[in-house]
Order: sequence, then structure tokens, then C-alpha cells
Amino acid sequence: MTNTSFSDAAAMWNQRYAGDSLLFGEAPNDYLRAQRPRLPRAGRALCVADGEGRNSVWLAQRGLSVDAFDIADAGVAKARKLAQRHGVSVNFAVADCDALAWPENAYDVIAAIFVQFADPPMRERLFANMVRALAPGGLLVLQGYTPKQLQYRSGGPQRVDHLYTEAMLREHFAALDILELVSYEAELREGTQHTGMAALVGLTARKRRDQPARR
Ligand SMILES: C[S@@+](CC[C@H](N)C(=O)[O-])C[C@H]1O[C@@H](n2cnc3c(N)ncnc32)[C@H](O)[C@@H]1O
Repeated sequence: MTNTSFSDAAAMWNQRYAGDSLLFGEAPNDYLRAQRPRLPRAGRALCVADGEGRNSVWLAQRGLSVDAFDIADAGVAKARKLAQRHGVSVNFAVADCDALAWPENAYDVIAAIFVQFADPPMRERLFANMVRALAPGGLLVLQGYTPKQLQYRSGGPQRVDHLYTEAMLREHFAALDILELVSYEAELREGTQHTGMAALVGLTARKRRDQPARR
């Protein structure tokens, strides 16, 4: 991700997704996969900014009924092919997260993996929509980079205001029960874009069953 071009995200990402290779690989994100024991075997899932589909395809393979969206139609086209190749069905859409018709109390799982395209105001809206779209008891799995990632060249925006701290995530997701919130460093091997040591944060949280829907 570069420092500029956030204003024309679709064009920038379509250009990146133009080749045949999968930028972030075919395997699901490791943090998402590590949450397997917590994932339901059935129900509805949403993959936010799903790119080339590695995470939505994996969730569909696990028996979930998956919706996924991304702003880049070239990414979604590759995601459709990946799902076809794996013989699973995913309901893909090309959409900007700010334009999506987010349903309320709908999803048993929401996966938001490396969605740090969002600047602070967009992040506020995006995270609020995610919380609202989770069904009571639904699970949020989120992975991102911490500010320490600026020392590495293994992916992510080179802009500190797009990166996550544990304190920021606790505040954004105060309405959820946090099951795990971890900052760590690990070697990423996700396609050509996420390769090498990285400073990561992982959050897994559950929507309270008694949480009233926000109007
Ligand atoms: C770092 S990639 C991560 C892709 C995928 N989540 C994964 O982990 O493989 C970020 C994705 O965000 C998408 N994106 C950027 N701005 C967006 C927006 N405003 N709404 C929806 N998707 C967006 C890009 O097209 C890209 O696919």
C-alpha cells in the first residue's frame, strides 16, 4: 500500500489485482484460521474488503453461508474464480464499505482482515457498521498492523493513522465482549504482498446477546 491514492481506491486496487497471481495468496489469513475452534459450523458470515477471496472461500469451505464484498471488481472477479475452483458458493459483491447496505443483527461471523485502507473517520463508520451487522452472539475476527509495522516492509499502509493499537480497538469495540486482543510479531507468508516480519494485532470479540440494536 502506498501513502497516496486513497481517494481512488477502486482504481488503485484494480491495478494491483490486474495480474493472474494472487497478491495475498490462496490460503486464509493465519489469525482467522487460528480462530477455527470459535467459529460456528453453520450460519452467516461476512468478509469485509475480501480482496481475492482467500478468507471467504475458506469460511464457505467450513460450512458457513458467506457474503463478501470489495471495492475492486478485479479482486472480486478473481475471488469468484477461486470459489469456483474450490467448488464453494460465496455471495460476492463489488461495493465501497461506505455505500454497502449493511444489514442489522445479521451475521454469525464477520471477518475483517487487513482492512486498513480506512482513515480514522471511515474506520469509525466501518467498525460501527460491523458491530451493528453482527447478530447477537456473533463473532468478529479482525487482523491488522500496529504502528510498529512502519519499521517493516511486509505490507500495510505507511500511515500511522491507519494502523491499530490495542487501546484503539478496545475503544472501538467496547460494545462487544473481547475474547482475545493480542499484539505480536510474526513472519507473514501471504502471497507476494505480505511477506516477511510483521507487527500485527488480532482481535476476536463477540456481540452480547442482550445488546439492543442501535437506531
Ligand atoms: C490489504 S487488502 C486485503 C484483502 C483481504 N481482506 C485479504 O486479507 O486478503 C485491502 C482490500 O481492501 C479493499 N478496499 C479498499 N478500499 C475499500 C473500500 N472503501 N471499500 C471496500 N473495500 C475496499 C481493496 O480493494 C483490497 O482488496
